[in-house]
Amino acid sequence: MSVTILVGSQWGDEGKGKIVDILSNRYDIVVRYQGGANAGHTIQLGDSQYILHLIPSGIMRDDVTCVIGNGVVIDPRALLNEIDFLEGRGISLSGRLFISHNAHLIMPYHKLIDSLNESGKNKIGTTGRGIGPCYIDKYARKGIKIVDLLDHDNLEKKITQNLEEKNTLLKKIYGRDELDVNSIIKEYKEFDERIDQYITDVPIFLDNAISQHKSILMEGAQGALLDIDHGTYPFVTSSNPTSGGACTGTGIPPTKITDVIGIVKAYTTRVGLGPFPTELVNETGENLRKWGAEFGATTGRPRRCGWFDAFLVGYSRMINGIDKAAITKLDVLSNLGEIKVCVGYELNGKLLKSFPTTESRISQVKPVYETLPGWKEDISNAKSYDELPVQAKNYLEFIARKCGFEISIISVGPRRKQTIEL
Ligand code: GDP
Ligand code: IMO
Ligand code: MG
Repeated sequence: MSVTILVGSQWGDEGKGKIVDILSNRYDIVVRYQGGANAGHTIQLGDSQYILHLIPSGIMRDDVTCVIGNGVVIDPRALLNEIDFLEGRGISLSGRLFISHNAHLIMPYHKLIDSLNESGKNKIGTTGRGIGPCYIDKYARKGIKIVDLLDHDNLEKKITQNLEEKNTLLKKIYGRDELDVNSIIKEYKEFDERIDQYITDVPIFLDNAISQHKSILMEGAQGALLDIDHGTYPFVTSSNPTSGGACTGTGIPPTKITDVIGIVKAYTTRVGLGPFPTELVNETGENLRKWGAEFGATTGRPRRCGWFDAFLVGYSRMINGIDKAAITKLDVLSNLGEIKVCVGYELNGKLLKSFPTTESRISQVKPVYETLPGWKEDISNAKSYDELPVQAKNYLEFIARKCGFEISIISVGPRRKQTIEL
């Protein structure tokens, strides 16, 4: 019986969706524990591509139960769109999807305020999905939860109270028109009709599952360096994608966790603003974007690309407690004459001993590189470790050693069969 946490170890988009889909054939339950529809987790099955934003990536396997934990912020409209999309493709959710009654709701004003903030001076480059403003209300103890959808009088009261404050903010701070309270109340009163069937007391559900020796995979969204506490603040998301967030975001206690798998992209990408020491603003960066199809799964934005940063991933290993890593997108590195790996940072001529998370320090560091020989072979059909070119094996061994973990999976393409398990 395992209770495994799967985390993105960089700035998101490491290929979590693909690896969750692969691993979920040996788990009974897959649980999302934080974030919301800012996530875009891609699963490629045959010619069909599925991009999941809220529903866990275990949903492609009929016998897997999917759970959305209390730490997730849910845009009910996005959720229903995703349910319709999956059901339209013959994937049934009834009796397989459970949503925590304590998950908070994204409201129309959260999305509006998110986009208004992004047009101001303190831009983060968010996904515009209302994530930050929703978590603000949660922590200000003003939020509206999924369970509130079931009590219409209470829902109306909460929306009215919240909107009074938001409308003042919209008018006085942002110079915008007020939002109409009645249309929001009407819209949100309709959601329970379809969402009620999924609402569950998730900690009890998961505790029962653990008592019955079921295996649980907890699917992180985003990545460790986007963590509100441990990431490159303020250029982060507003939740805890790191492994600690899996316990608070689901109600599974730390004593039940058996292992932590880190999803590690073979190079680095980042979407949105913020420091990125190994970024390549040159032809190599453009090639990585082209070969790796590095465009946001949620917003379509081009992802910034750069060399693998072992100093950063080593930090990520430490704060997440990663013991095993799945290395993804190794195939994208084929065709490079040589490959650089960042093994440390220099600041004011001195090597840093530990990863700097303050913006002023991380934006000034100079990466220290080691250069490894590349390979020319197409590895996207490799079925075993032995089939990989020696340079690719050396690259993997080098990054495993520098980051301090064991590699358990190597992904050489978006499809299930393009996966090597060690
Ligand atoms: P996530 O947010 O971590 O689930 O990652 P995304 O889905 O946003 O981005 C990963 C992208 O890379 C998707 O388009 C995947 O289909 C694709 N992908 C995943 N693993 C591999 C791989 O090993 N090689 C290649 N070439 N593409 C991959
Ligand atoms: P997955 O789960 C990559 C980034 C945004 C922005 C910052 C804050 O697919 O890996 P937010 O909308 O969360 O307030 O934006 O976080 N971001 C992601 N980057 N992958 C993601 O999710 C992301 N979710 C948010 O680009 O820089
Ligand atoms: Mg993504």
